[in-house]
Amino acid sequence: MSNNVFKLNKITFSYPQSEPVLSDLNLEINEGERLSILGANGCGKSTLLKILAGLIFPQSGTFTAFGDKIEQKSFSGEISTTYHRRVGFIFQDSEAQLFCSTVYEELAFGPLQLGLPRDTIKKRIDELPAMLGVEKLLDKPPFRLSGGEKKKIAIGSVLILNPDVLILDEPTNSLDPRSQAWLLNLLQALSKAGKTLIFATHNLDLVPQVSDRAILFDEDHTIAADMPVKELLKNAELLKRVNLVDQHYHTHPWDFNP
Ligand SMILES: Nc1ncnc2c1ncn2[C@@H]1O[C@H](COP(=O)(O)OP(=O)(O)O)[C@@H](O)[C@H]1O
Ligand SMILES: [Mg+2]
Repeated sequence: MSNNVFKLNKITFSYPQSEPVLSDLNLEINEGERLSILGANGCGKSTLLKILAGLIFPQSGTFTAFGDKIEQKSFSGEISTTYHRRVGFIFQDSEAQLFCSTVYEELAFGPLQLGLPRDTIKKRIDELPAMLGVEKLLDKPPFRLSGGEKKKIAIGSVLILNPDVLILDEPTNSLDPRSQAWLLNLLQALSKAGKTLIFATHNLDLVPQVSDRAILFDEDHTIAADMPVKELLKNAELLKRVNLVDQHYHTHPWDFNP
């Protein structure tokens, strides 16, 4: 039996009154994979992630998740609830994800909304803040937090649902080095626990630490490469062509042994 989590077959997506952002896109993502989606600004990374997260729907092609066809017309009620429990999406901008009046409410919101039993919610809220190191923030309003703290709460509000798949859009943007290191450790632990992890980023330093496979978008929105991260990072010509590095890129720090 296939261990596909997602399968996209000839997917096309356009925003209203614009050219297609994705056209005839084919992609398979397997359970437990760690995948980076790379490409210059505007190439379609966030759009693809939002399709995977069940937030927007392609106009044509077939999108299958966990073996079931995902279609806008039937994506409501229990189907949508179950999907959003299994597939967590962490927005690039944490502010887009935080809207409750306290951190505690923020963490409880998703599980309440998606109908988790109250004792499960309570148990997870008792455990999660310590894991995230945010115990002291529970009574604070999220808008008062630092960028790194906001990201932790945004991640917490998704992890509390214990999703099988975690999708992160530019997760290290605006994080200081300590918060980035914290996030990397967390992602590595989640991967070891069997989660499927999918990232969009143009931070090449992050890529080998969080992923084994990379999908590289060209600026014309097509997939220029789907290959092991180690191979991709050595391919300076390809990275230059898709505008991910400039002409000064020769090698990558961890190919370099001082
Ligand atoms: N809500 C939207 N409405 C119209 N166009 C959009 C919208 N979101 C993104 N786009 C356009 O779609 C293209 C791909 O955007 P996006 O998926 O956000 O790229 P990336 O995440 O790689 O920077 C860009 O040209 C962008 O301007
Ligand atoms: Mg984006």
